[in-house]
This record gives sequence, structure tokens and C-alpha cells, in this order.
Amino acid sequence: MTVIDTDPGIDDAIGILLAFASPNFTIAGITTVAGNIGIETTTRNASRLLAFAGREDIPVVRGAAAPLSRVGPEPLNLHGTDGIGGVALPHPVRLPDDRQAVKWLADFLMEQPAGIVDVLALGPLTNLARLVLEQPEAARRIGRIIAMGGAIHEHGNVGPRSEFNLWADPEAAAVVVASGLPLVLIPLDVTRRVRATREFVEALSASGKPMPAKVANLIESYFEGEANRESRPLHDPCVMLYALSPQLFRIEELRLSVDTGNGELAGALTISPEGTPVQVALGVDGPAALDLLARHLTTIEAS
Ligand code: BDR
Ligand code: CA
Repeated sequence: MTVIDTDPGIDDAIGILLAFASPNFTIAGITTVAGNIGIETTTRNASRLLAFAGREDIPVVRGAAAPLSRVGPEPLNLHGTDGIGGVALPHPVRLPDDRQAVKWLADFLMEQPAGIVDVLALGPLTNLARLVLEQPEAARRIGRIIAMGGAIHEHGNVGPRSEFNLWADPEAAAVVVASGLPLVLIPLDVTRRVRATREFVEALSASGKPMPAKVANLIESYFEGEANRESRPLHDPCVMLYALSPQLFRIEELRLSVDTGNGELAGALTISPEGTPVQVALGVDGPAALDLLARHLTTIEAS
């Protein structure tokens, strides 16, 4: 059983649609967090994605509007003023759940047998850190956290060694990493190797089905303003792809800690003997991962 914690976000949206398309996921709920854009917009985007997929049976639960203890980042222009590159999605009918994400997550985890709920984390780790700090018993019942975040041997995307999701709330990332909860980290080292080309987008569009066509629109919007680029990295969908097919990834256990300073290393990961053991994806078969994404998007019955 799966909960998606997310800040949609173009690549979040692609990952969420992949999870809807694949029969391998049972999605129990979507919790939202501020990150790529403010909390009202990320929450609304999650609801719009559910409406598009005809899955408004799944609850959307609003989460943290700001990092644990610092001022939130300005929205990234990369995802447009609506967070999803202006791609058309229906208006949601169902309102977000009344509860706050941490409360909803804690209630849900306590209702389920321990160890069966995986959390796929696609944004800053604020909700999960608050769960660890405020509801430790519930947090211990999580099966695995699979989180897109960090840069190990690669340069960062917001600082020399910092990746956006960890940089947006370094204190939260530090809490989650140090918690010792089962954590698989999917850093830029692999997400930059799962790249959508224009040919890939055309093939999705050519399928003539609504789900892959919408994903094609989302990737096209990712190309906007990046006209010279031949391909775009699909960061967040790598979390779903890892959950679907871990054998496509090369995993190493590293002992990690998160820089919580205010300098240019905020959110950067350090490997040291004092760090907490984390399973980290350091390699991926990029073409096979893309192929898996396309297959799951295009073979779904309902699309
Ligand atoms: C991460 O940052 C966000 O902009 C993306 O949605 C992804 O989760 C990549 O660094
Ligand atoms: Ca994201």
C-alpha cells in the first residue's frame, strides 16, 4: 500500500499519473507539501490530477505550508505559475481531507499492519519529519520511504552540492535521514540519467490514449524555455520506477548526514562514519527505466 507525499510540480505530476496507470500500486492517499509552489497550489494540483485520472476516491490531504524552521523557497519558475506548466487538467469535485497531513498519516499508519505502507516522497521532507517528531510510533510503522532527493557524486541543482527537495527544508531532511527509518534515496545521480527526449514525447502522444498524451503534454511543458535541450530529466517518476522495478537501479548503503547550515551547502549530503545508513541509488539503466514508464502508461486499460 502506498502514500504519495508530493509538491506537484511537473515531474511529480508525471510520477503520480504513472502510479495511477500501473496496476502495481494501491494508492491510499496523497499528502501535499509546499515546495515547487505554495501549498494551496500543490494541493489543488494533486486534486486536479485525481480528477483527470477518475480517481477522486483517493483522499488528498493538505500538508506543511512552510519548512520546519526556516522561510520557504520562492516557487521555481521551471514549473510555471500554476506548478504544472499550464497543462490543462479538470477542476476537482472532491475537497481535500479536513485533517492535516501529519494527523492523517498517523491515523492511517496506526490503522494498518506495521510495515505495509510505503511512502513515496517527491518533495521537501517536511511532512515526514513532522511525523517522525510528533508521531514517532506511527512513523515506525512505515514500511519504506522512497524519496527523490540529494546529490551524491553529482553537482546539485540549487547549490554546488544541494538538490532542491533537501535544500528546501534541510532540517526536515536531517530529521528523516537521522531517524533510521528504512529509507531509499533517489538522488540526482540517477534521476539525471532517466531523460525524456522529444522522440519519447512523440511516441507517448502517438499512442492516442489520454494518460500518455497528458504525460507528453507535461514533458513538453518541461521543455519550454529550454528550447536548446535535447532531453529533460524525469526526477520524481524515478521513485515510482524504483518501486516498480528495483533491479533497474544500483543501490549502495551510505552513511549520510544533511547540512543544516545557512551557507551554500544547505541541504547537501555528507558521507561519513557518523552518518546514518541509507540505501542510495547510484546507478540506473536509463533506457530500461524509460521503457518501463512508457509501457505502464500506455498499457493501462482505462487509458
Ligand atoms: C526535485 O525538485 C523539484 O523541482 C522536482 O519536482 C523534484 O522533486 C528535483 O530536484
Ligand atoms: Ca517534486
